[in-house]
Amino acid sequence: MAINNKIKIGLIGLGTVGSGVYKTLRSFDNIEVVKIAVRNKNKKRNIEGLDESIITDNAYDVVNEPEIQIVAELIGGTEPAFDLIKTAIKNGKHIVTANKELLAKHGEELFNFAEANNKVVLYEAAIAGGIPLIMPIKTILAGNKISKIKAILNGTTNYILTKMDLQGASYEDVLKEAQELGYAETDPTGDVEGFDAAYKITTLATIAFGKRIKFENVYREGITKIRPEDMKAAREMGYKIKLIASAELDEAGRADVRVHPMLVPVTKTLAHIDYVTNAVTLTGHPVGEVTLSGPGAGEFPTASSVVGDILAIVSELGKTNYLLPMMRCNHHENAQPIPISDTKNKYYLSICVKNSVGVIGRIGKACEDNNISLASIVQKGISCDDCAEISVITEICHENDMQKVVEILNNDSSIMKVNSLIRVQV
Ligand code: HSE
Repeated sequence: MAINNKIKIGLIGLGTVGSGVYKTLRSFDNIEVVKIAVRNKNKKRNIEGLDESIITDNAYDVVNEPEIQIVAELIGGTEPAFDLIKTAIKNGKHIVTANKELLAKHGEELFNFAEANNKVVLYEAAIAGGIPLIMPIKTILAGNKISKIKAILNGTTNYILTKMDLQGASYEDVLKEAQELGYAETDPTGDVEGFDAAYKITTLATIAFGKRIKFENVYREGITKIRPEDMKAAREMGYKIKLIASAELDEAGRADVRVHPMLVPVTKTLAHIDYVTNAVTLTGHPVGEVTLSGPGAGEFPTASSVVGDILAIVSELGKTNYLLPMMRCNHHENAQPIPISDTKNKYYLSICVKNSVGVIGRIGKACEDNNISLASIVQKGISCDDCAEISVITEICHENDMQKVVEILNNDSSIMKVNSLIRVQV
């Protein structure tokens, strides 16, 4: 056991993030990493100067080590991460975690448990990697009533959509390329179906609104159905398609939280956030609109947030019995959710029709009959198989009415199919 006055840290996980954290912490003289848990002890790791004697393949060696004061959990997933964190807290350790899934699904239980044991759980790295978000919201923006968040919180999908836009390529082709380059996982479901962004917006909206959002109330759609034709049509009409995580509080204090693709007007900042970059636009009073943008993942950007959290704890250890009060969980009320069916939105539709007399009129009639006003309707010509693709943008209308129109159009004999229905940012 090392005998010195350094603050002792334990790491659970030495993958991409864990390696970045270990390498970054080495330059702090007052901190010592004394134990690191890994899944496979025999794996070759290219970390200069790594002391193999501190590596264990039993993560409970870290959380049960008496001299460790702070545990950084960097393995992700709900179990065994949750049990490890609870054990560490019971053993008197403060926690730093990058685990967005655990926070989204068990945040309430985790923070209650930590508070009951007077320990802090910090998680700057869990949402948008290297972008400082949690600490700014909880400290310098604390005087604000934040009512709206619009964000790009997933780098993998933003990379895919950016490439589809630039190359005119299909989702499948770009996904394959992204997997070959290591930007997308072999099983990309968590990213491309919007789960990753949904975990992140759950926690982000909870702390921004000061009301607990339940993950199961977050509406979610991924990017797998976006077609190059939609990208092109959007571009021609002055939009970019992005996977947007959004959260809004209405005047009655109800929360509309969702993740789905959106046509974002090119006049908005989020339309210009490309490749793996993340960005978050917060609207609050009195600050107005603030956009934070930067690297949402990666070894060193994520390590920056983990190490910042560790240093915040280190700076107060031994000086107070109640560390970092502003960083603790202070929301005990659940937000009443607004189901997607009760929301109002602007929409883009791409409709494949047979070349027949009056088909545009039929689309217009279906919309008129359901209280939907059209902002634009574009047909560029007729294809060689005597079909046409019609792009429609509506004005703001009710989700239920829009879904009724889609059903009517899909049952109309002169309409082949509604190919796409994508919401449009206003
Ligand atoms: N898988 C995430 C992304 C990074 O693609 O942005 C880690 O949260």
